[in-house]
Amino acid sequence: MRLVLFGPPGSGKGTQAGRICSRFGLTHLSTGNILREEMSAGTELGLRVGGIVRSGALVSDEIVNELVFSRLDAAGGFLLDGYPRNLTQARRLDEHLGSGRRLNCALLLEVPDAEVVRRLSSRASCSACGFTGSVSHGGVCPSCGGPLSARPDDGEDVVRRRLAEYHSSTAPLAAFYGDRLRRIDGTGTEQEVWMRMENLLRGLE
Ligand code: AP5
Repeated sequence: MRLVLFGPPGSGKGTQAGRICSRFGLTHLSTGNILREEMSAGTELGLRVGGIVRSGALVSDEIVNELVFSRLDAAGGFLLDGYPRNLTQARRLDEHLGSGRRLNCALLLEVPDAEVVRRLSSRASCSACGFTGSVSHGGVCPSCGGPLSARPDDGEDVVRRRLAEYHSSTAPLAAFYGDRLRRIDGTGTEQEVWMRMENLLRGLE
């Protein structure tokens, strides 16, 4: 399967992407994760994009397209998480895939803004193993015992900027994908969302 997963910040894309990829044997490509890895490694690209990511604005289309296409060509089935992020990226992706590797569908995870702000104000992740959960774990990763920390772009002002960016640049992808779009209610527990997701994707296998 070749899938795109999009939705507001904090809608649970990363959480559901992990489950989808292990259940359906897909390669998980998250542009946010790739950019954060470049930033933590202090690469030239990481230094170039760090300020943009921390501010909640979007990195340039040229940079992101190149990051995605170089990895996409090595993947069989894939799930793109956080890409495309605007109409320019979506059109370039379709062109790049051509008629031989068309997307099966674009999944839109829908969560109201107030819930996004609530989730992101308590999100914490582990730099050692990548676990993502809530600060309610007491600052200690329940998976590997490493330290949990908040993402630098999860402060309330930056989250509001990311939400504004989502509504102006990314939400129009719903109309772009038309009959390739599948909407999923992203509210409820992680397990409830997963049940909806799995039911939908089983129908596409
Ligand atoms: P990116 O990393 O893509 O961030 P995002 O889209 O803002 O999404 P998040 O990672 O914040 O949230 P998520 O939907 O994955 O939710 P999660 O599963 O963690 O992008 C970051 C930045 O990189 C951008 O701002 C931009 O600068 C740059 N960038 C990335 N891609 C780009 C592109 N294509 N073009 C240009 N720039 C780009 O869940 C959130 C929290 O909620 C977690 O704590 C989780 O445990 C919890 N949770 C999950 N599901 C539930 C549930 N059902 N109930 C309760 N809590 C839940």
